[in-house]
Amino acid sequence: MSIPTHGAFRAPSARALASARFSCRTRRVLASAWCAALAANLAAPLSAGAKTPPPKPALDGAAVAAPDGYSADTAQQIFAEGGNAVDAAVAMAFTLAVTRPDAGNLGGGGFMTLLVDGKPYFLDYRERAPQQANRDMYLDDKGNVVPGMSTVGHRAAAVPGTVDGMWQAQRRFGKLKWKQVLAPAIHYATDGFQVDPRLQQRRDAAAKSFASKTNFDAYFGNLKAGATLRQPELAQTLGRIASDGGREFYEGRTAQMIAAQMYGHGLITSQDLSQYKALWREPLAAGWHGYRVITAPPPSSGGIGLIQLLKMRAALQPAFDGVALNSAPYIHLIAQIEDRVFADRQRYIGDPDASPVPVAKLIDDAYLAQRAAEVKTGEAPGAAPKKPGVDGAAATEEAQTTHFSVVDKWGNAVSNSYTLNGDFGSGVVVDGGGFLLNDAMDDFLIKPAGAGATGASGAASASGAADADAEPNMIAPGRRPISSMTPTLLMKDGKIALAIGTPGGSRILTTIFQVMTNLSDFDMAPTDALAAMRFHHQLLPQKTIYFEPYHPAPEELATQLKDLGYTVEQQPFNGDVQMIRVNGATPEPASDPRGAGVARVIR
Ligand code: DON
Repeated sequence: MSIPTHGAFRAPSARALASARFSCRTRRVLASAWCAALAANLAAPLSAGAKTPPPKPALDGAAVAAPDGYSADTAQQIFAEGGNAVDAAVAMAFTLAVTRPDAGNLGGGGFMTLLVDGKPYFLDYRERAPQQANRDMYLDDKGNVVPGMSTVGHRAAAVPGTVDGMWQAQRRFGKLKWKQVLAPAIHYATDGFQVDPRLQQRRDAAAKSFASKTNFDAYFGNLKAGATLRQPELAQTLGRIASDGGREFYEGRTAQMIAAQMYGHGLITSQDLSQYKALWREPLAAGWHGYRVITAPPPSSGGIGLIQLLKMRAALQPAFDGVALNSAPYIHLIAQIEDRVFADRQRYIGDPDASPVPVAKLIDDAYLAQRAAEVKTGEAPGAAPKKPGVDGAAATEEAQTTHFSVVDKWGNAVSNSYTLNGDFGSGVVVDGGGFLLNDAMDDFLIKPAGAGATGASGAASASGAADADAEPNMIAPGRRPISSMTPTLLMKDGKIALAIGTPGGSRILTTIFQVMTNLSDFDMAPTDALAAMRFHHQLLPQKTIYFEPYHPAPEELATQLKDLGYTVEQQPFNGDVQMIRVNGATPEPASDPRGAGVARVIR
C-alpha cells in the first residue's frame, strides 16, 4: 500500500493558525500550556536549536525493525521526508494504533528509550489510575476479586498516556512538523489497510470475553482477514490531534468523548485527562561486557530485572563454563537466577513517585554478586525463598504489547514498547473517537495480601503481570502500575550498538536477556539469535519452565527438566522481538520469525 507523498515543510497558513487559536479560545484554555505549545509547534521553522542533526551521517543508512509492514513503510516515508529516528518512532506508534488495534494504541501507554545526539533519555508514558480509583475497587463485599472486572469494560481502564508521550517526544527531538508524523496513520485509518489473518484470530479470541459487555463488536465486528479495514472515527481523532496538537486528546473534543464514554460506567474524568503528563525519567544504565545497557526504570520492573539477569549470569560464568545453551543444566541455572529476580520485583517495584524503589541497590554489582553466589548447581528447583503470590499467574498472562526499534543515519535510536495490556485492552471503544481503551488497571495489585473474608494471603492480578505482594504496586489515585515493558538500547564507545524490545508480559525481560546473551555470549548472528528456542521461568508458579508454541521443548529436554524436578508447560503465545544491531557503521535490523515483523535498512 502506498502512502501519500508529503511535500516539503510549508509554514502553516494564516487560516490554520487562526483556526487553532479559535479552537483554544472556544475551549476557554487559551492561556494553557498546550495552546501555547500548539501555536509554537504550528509556527516553528522546520528545525532549530537542539533539533539540528549532526552534520554528517554516522551510519550507512537508517533501519527499522517493526511488528508490521505498514509501520515499516511509515518509517521509510518519514526518513524520505528528512525525519530522524524520533519522528519515525512517533509516526510508527500512530500507524500501529491503526493497523494493530489489538496492541498499538491511542488509549494505552508505554515507554520509550532514546539515544539522541549521543545522549540517552527515557520517556514514561505509562497509564495512571484515575483519581476515583481505590485499592478495593475490584473486590466484592466478601473481599473476593470480581472476575473480569479489572480486564474487561470501563472500570478496567486507566488514564491513557500514549498521545502525550508521542507529543512530548516529537516536540523535544523531532525534526518534522507534527502533522507530518500523523499523516501516514491518518491515511491508513481513512483509506484502510488489509487485515492480517493473525489479527483476525486475536480479534475472534478477544471478542468472546467482550461479548455483550462492551461495544467492541460495533467497531471491530467487521475485522476480517484479507479485507480492508477502514476506521473513519479514528481518522477524525487522529486529524484533530494532528491539527490541534497532542494535548487535544486530554483537553479537547477527544477528552470530552472519553469522559462521556466513562460517565456512569468508569472512573476516568475530564480532570484525570487534563492532569495527565508523560514524564522524562533518568534511564537505567549499567555496564555489561563492555557495553552500556540503557533501559527502563520503574515503574517498569523490566530494566532492573534485565540488568540483574545479565549481571548475575556474568558473575556465574564459571558455573556456565562448558554448559550448552538451552541444555537442562543451563535452564536450571538461569531459572535459579530468575527466582531471585522475580522475588525482588515482587517485593520492591512499583510507581517510584508513590513509594521509592531502591534501584541503585537492586542493580549494584556487589549485591548481585552476592545473590548470584547463592545459586548452586545442585540446588533443588524452587528452593529460593517463595514470596506471597498467586500460583499459576504466569500461565494466564497476556501477551499483547507491541514493540519497534528504529535508528537513523545520524546514529540516533529509539526503542519503544507500548500496550493496551490485554489484546484490544478493555474492549471499550470510545464512541465517536474510534479507539480502544486499555485494561492497564489489571497491572496493579488488585487484591491486597490478606484482604478478603477468606484471609487468603497473596496478591492477585488477573493477567499475572503485576502479582506483587508489596505496597509499591497497590492501587491508588494517580499511581502508575508496575510494568514489564523493557525497551532497551546498548551503547558501545558512546554510540548505538543495539536497540531491542518485545511484547510478552513478564516474559519480556527474560526474552530480551536470552537474545542479548545469544548475541554476546554465544556469538550468534541476529537472525539466529532471534530464531533460537526460548524458555521462561519466574518465581511463581514454582518449578515451572515455559516454552513457546514456536519452538516447543524437545522431548528429551522436557524429560531431563522433569527429572530435575521441574514442570514443563507450553505457553499459548510467542514473543515478537524487534531489534537492530549496529555493527560498526552498518545497521543490521532483525524481526522475530515468530511474528509478522519487517526488518529493513533504509538508505
Ligand atoms: O506493562 C505490562 O507489563 C503489562 N501491561 C503487560 C503488557 C504486555 O507486555 C503484554 N504482553 N506483551
